[in-house]
Amino acid sequence: MDDGIVYLDYNATTPVDKRVIQEMLPYFEEYYANASSNYDFSKKSKFILDEARLEIAETFGTEKRQIYFTSGATEGLNLALKGLALNPGNNKKHIITCSTEHKAVLEICIYLESIGYEIDYLPVNRDGSLDLELLKSTIRQDTLLICLMWVNNETGLIHPIKEIGKIAKESGVYFVCDATQGVGKLAVDVEESNIDILCFSGHKMYAPKGIGGLYINSSITKQNKIQPLIHGGGQENGMRGGTYNIPLIAGLKKAFEIAKMEMKENESVLTQLRNTVESQLLKINNAYINCGNAERIYNTVNVCIPDFDTELFIGMNKNIAVSNGSACTAGLVQPSHVLSTMGLSNEDALGSIRISMGRNTTDKDIFVFMERIHQFMRNV
Ligand SMILES: Cc1ncc(COP(=O)(O)O)c(C=O)c1O
Repeated sequence: MDDGIVYLDYNATTPVDKRVIQEMLPYFEEYYANASSNYDFSKKSKFILDEARLEIAETFGTEKRQIYFTSGATEGLNLALKGLALNPGNNKKHIITCSTEHKAVLEICIYLESIGYEIDYLPVNRDGSLDLELLKSTIRQDTLLICLMWVNNETGLIHPIKEIGKIAKESGVYFVCDATQGVGKLAVDVEESNIDILCFSGHKMYAPKGIGGLYINSSITKQNKIQPLIHGGGQENGMRGGTYNIPLIAGLKKAFEIAKMEMKENESVLTQLRNTVESQLLKINNAYINCGNAERIYNTVNVCIPDFDTELFIGMNKNIAVSNGSACTAGLVQPSHVLSTMGLSNEDALGSIRISMGRNTTDKDIFVFMERIHQFMRNV
């Protein structure tokens, strides 16, 4: 980056692609009509709304009527989980998820638990992977849904969504998939993977913050198995009220188009960068890669350097943007729930750093980052 920032935190958010910005501009300035209006002037807004839905549907191997827009993945997950659970026709009270899910899932589950639902939080193996036999045996007569993520935001671990979808289908329970860190980086076919609801977010794939969406299998909506969270003017077939955010939807469409076009190239460039940074990190005494032996996404490295003070490193290197294996809650530094669930000691979790790369990451970024790591280790 030109301004001296070494940005290695693409899993937190991505910059908006310039082509996405260009795509959005006319919808702020010229074609600003409300997409729900009846006059001619709203035609452009209606058209791009329809095109965006189509583009996303095609990416997921499905039909556009099954795509819904939201403000992001957190809202999508709330709609999916609360919408299915709280629906008056639902009498199933059991939900299965995993302790390494994003807080956006875990907090919804905690809320549902507080009002009488029973949640099983599956553990994971030391390499972050799931025990699918345990998943099968956890399913009960009254299980409503399995909610598992595709790609873990902290470690990059990839869950086997096809196998999970198969298990869910065979057991007659819904599979809700938080695909936030996978969409835009990997290809997915929702029908092939038997995903009933898939959630995604624009700001993880070079679109702006504040836009995202979900795929909801039409059998769920047709049978009224889900209830909306946001009631209003009937947008999104009554599933999510509120005036359409057309500029952001136009941007999201462009982001999907670019992702499709450049996915292979990004994968090959980022895989090389990841291998470079990993091999350099592994030269450090006792360092190891979290989930190193499991299937992982190509842009993410989560490294543990025992006894490395990641808080201090981040504090002392203000222009390096990386995440560490901790969460700061109420002023207390706590080890990441993902790494702790995997069985890392508090010390190792706190000595872990996530490097997540993206389209604009360069060899120079990696070089500067590694130099700073070595400098820090020499001086502290
Ligand atoms: C795996 C995962 N799920 C959900 C979310 C929440 O997404 P949003 O910021 O769009 O609400 C994030 C964002 O960090 C994420 O990484």
